[in-house]
Amino acid sequence: MAERKIIAVVGATGAQGGGLVQAILADRDGGFTVRALTRDPASKGARALADRGAEVVRADVDDPASLRDAFRGAHGVFCVTFFWAHLSPEKEMAEASEMAEAARDAGVRHAIWSTLEDTRKWVPLSDPRMPTLKGKYKVPHFDGKGESDRFFAEANVPTTYLLTSFYWDNFIHFGMGPKRGPDGKLAIAMPMGTAKLPGIAVEDIGACAYGIFRKGGELVGKRIGIAGEHLSGSEMAAAFTRALGEEVRYQDVTPEAYRGLGFPGADDLGNMFQFKRDFEQAFRAARSVDVARGLNPSIQTFDVWLARNKARIPLG
Ligand SMILES: NC(=O)c1ccc[n+]([C@@H]2O[C@H](COP(=O)([O-])OP(=O)(O)OC[C@H]3O[C@@H](n4cnc5c(N)ncnc54)[C@H](OP(=O)(O)O)[C@@H]3O)[C@@H](O)[C@H]2O)c1
Repeated sequence: MAERKIIAVVGATGAQGGGLVQAILADRDGGFTVRALTRDPASKGARALADRGAEVVRADVDDPASLRDAFRGAHGVFCVTFFWAHLSPEKEMAEASEMAEAARDAGVRHAIWSTLEDTRKWVPLSDPRMPTLKGKYKVPHFDGKGESDRFFAEANVPTTYLLTSFYWDNFIHFGMGPKRGPDGKLAIAMPMGTAKLPGIAVEDIGACAYGIFRKGGELVGKRIGIAGEHLSGSEMAAAFTRALGEEVRYQDVTPEAYRGLGFPGADDLGNMFQFKRDFEQAFRAARSVDVARGLNPSIQTFDVWLARNKARIPLG
């Protein structure tokens, strides 16, 4: 039997990387084996991956030597950064740069960089429609990733640039689930107007990444945007209503109101939704459900995802 190709996965105990680890482990005859990177191999999540057959290695993206060791000998690497752990685009860019250099030095044949748009190409800093944040960004958690694309290109790493979509899992983990208003009715609030939002079950991002590694060289140098479905706020509310058996409304709030919600990063998310709303055509055109299904034939629709996950969604 030919030797199996190692895929080193950053964020292996997390959402995107975790989905990729599961996809590789589930396909024993696929020709790939997984190396799961974690800062703590003794953690519960890391031990669970080892129990399922993953090679688990200690690595921290803020410790370049550990990253180099972890990428050595890998055929492919999956690179993702963790904006919400620190809220710093500069830190994301430094980490992306380290990952690109480590991938180059390891001579990997295929990297996937989990990226997003640099929104400043659409909304220059001089554009007053949304505030400039942190001095030089419009949507900090997008712009730092988009700006980091060049680190992979400049390092000549054979890279597929993976444009991800809004996780439907945000309704579980990110405080975006339906909330009861003063009238006792459930509503999801988003400043999307009537625009459709490309969304995806986060585990399907990892499964699509696996599809990209399987296709290999033909996707090197390409930008691949994925989504499970593009749905308006009203369409998502209707799906919630069907799944929960209780009416859920869509509440269109203004981006200004969203920016003012007061939680860390609310201004960033307000600008993000406004970008997705105001540049709906370009944003949606970059994310194809058909391409995603080609990479991952069992990709979930929102209805399927809701049926599987509704019990986990906190109803405020
Ligand atoms: N929420 C959305 O809708 C959405 C949509 C598109 C893109 N994104 C982007 O997705 C990114 C996060 O990806 P995710 O959701 O997969 O993350 P996640 O679920 O928060 O996973 C983070 C994992 O990464 C590991 N990690 C954290 N810091 C690390 C470090 N310094 N070195 C090595 N590993 C580290 C942790 O593992 P250990 O503790 O085991 O080390 C953790 O399990 C963010 O940048 C966000 O902007 C989010």
